Amino acid sequence: MWVNRWLLAGLLSSLAITANAGVVDQKLDQYRAQGVDSFNPEAGYELWRSDNNGRSCTQCHGAKPDSVGRHAKTGKVIKPMAPSVNPKRLIDSKKIDKWFLRNCKWTLKRECTAQEKGDFLVWLREQ
Ligand code: HEC
Repeated sequence: MWVNRWLLAGLLSSLAITANAGVVDQKLDQYRAQGVDSFNPEAGYELWRSDNNGRSCTQCHGAKPDSVGRHAKTGKVIKPMAPSVNPKRLIDSKKIDKWFLRNCKWTLKRECTAQEKGDFLVWLREQ
């Protein structure tokens, strides 16, 4: 029996990974259609940790994507961003769009470019 349970667990987790890859790949296609050639996870990490006149993504999300964050203004706990510890991340295209818009405006005082968003997603999906 335990063999079957192992197989089932393996199957379910690979399905979850496939679903994740699906939404991120969909977003990347969307950004490619806006003219982006290739994506760079290093640049995504740079966006995550960069300081922009005293504001940064890590101010709310915490320095480590696999740990909980705390909202800079409201103090509310924010669940980890890393899909490896929080499987609810990067599975909802509308949610990703909504928060990129709000958070980039708050952090950078402008919207993120398609390049920045793609770089960020290819970095985050490996976390
Ligand atoms: C002022 C606080 C704050 C800052 C700064 C912030 N975020 Fe967020 N972010 C949130 C909150 C709140 C949520 C939604 C709650 C949740 O999903 O746990 C969220 C969710 C997200 C999501 C949705 C992920 C998903 O699939 O669930 C993305 C993507 C994101 N943030 C990216 C960024 C990036 C990139 C930066 C820096 C440019 C950033 N955030 C800076 C507060 C912030």
